[in-house]
Amino acid sequence: MTKTIEMSRTHPPLVPEVFDPEYRKAMDGVLSRYTPSEMVGAHRWMGTEEDRAAGGVFTGRRLGANPEPSRVIVTNGTQSAFNMLFGGLVGQGNVLAVESLTYPPILVLAKHFGFVPKGVRMDDEGIVPEALEDLCRSDRPKALYLLSTLQNPTTATMLLKRRQQIADIARKYDLQIIEDDIYSLLPEGLPPPISTLAPERSWYMLGVAKTIAAGMKIAYVVAPSAALAEEQFWPGVRATFWMSAPISAAVSTQLIETGGAERIIDAVKQEMVARHKIVRPLLTGTDFETKDGALHVWIRLPETASASGLASLIRERGVNVGTGDPYAASPGKAPRAIRIGIGHAKSHAELEEAIRIIADSHDAFLRQQ
Ligand SMILES: Cc1ncc(COP(=O)(O)O)c(C=O)c1O
Repeated sequence: MTKTIEMSRTHPPLVPEVFDPEYRKAMDGVLSRYTPSEMVGAHRWMGTEEDRAAGGVFTGRRLGANPEPSRVIVTNGTQSAFNMLFGGLVGQGNVLAVESLTYPPILVLAKHFGFVPKGVRMDDEGIVPEALEDLCRSDRPKALYLLSTLQNPTTATMLLKRRQQIADIARKYDLQIIEDDIYSLLPEGLPPPISTLAPERSWYMLGVAKTIAAGMKIAYVVAPSAALAEEQFWPGVRATFWMSAPISAAVSTQLIETGGAERIIDAVKQEMVARHKIVRPLLTGTDFETKDGALHVWIRLPETASASGLASLIRERGVNVGTGDPYAASPGKAPRAIRIGIGHAKSHAELEEAIRIIADSHDAFLRQQ
């Protein structure tokens, strides 16, 4: 069987020389800190006091100051937290404002929960304020879900002024903000999250999947207040499926407390610098968009070209890539584009091989059009 190089995912690169000893040390630390029965004998609820304080330190890197641990909820990953927030803050029949190209699970959850996602036009900084305001007037959305940094799939990133405009509109129209900042720990010099500009209505989410490890299944959520955290999660909603596995929550806490998380993130950052150096020169023949620290690249195609046609050709040549189709908030409005994840390839040689195949296929495909 011929091998397929997986380039459709936005996993961070493995950095085993740093990750493996840090994770082992953290696991040893956890096992000497708790007896196994004490650790797994009950749910982790919102996280222990230490977990929530560690979540405060982790999110504090972006929020500027560590939030009170009582506002922090430790969850079994961002998607688990979505289930609670979209169910609780939006609800059946109501509108959730999203970017016109949005993270595909949102569209799946909309069907499950019966809420209505409405796409807001974007430019190269993400959601356009005037378009959000128009939607607020016409559809009265309950909440806005967005990525202000390294938007998935376009990598659009808002400058401070745009963040402030979005916060002001949210306040004017009483919108809850669900800000997914999962890609924000790899770039340098970013403006603060929108959540710091409208903290009274923001649900700030920072998962570890894109910087430490996707399989840890940990995301920290910072609620507007301790009371709202309890209302939306526990004990307000008497469900437990979103709670983190105790071992993972405890390892994450240990990594944050000992500086291991920081060291892993630094190693991932450095590896991404090297990967961008390999990728960008090879894609100069394409209309690509990416940014420093991004785990993916977005390649736009001319109006006449079919993204699925190009993705099929690339797949035939041994590389798996994604298209823009699943991201379209309005069915049928998919952009002609492909998305490639550059963190997942196992080595620089594999990454280079895959990018060369993508670039060659792109050229051949467009010549045929
Ligand atoms: C925008 C966005 N949010 C969240 C996630 C990951 O969520 P989780 O923390 O559930 O792994 C991803 C992964 O692809 C993502 O692209």
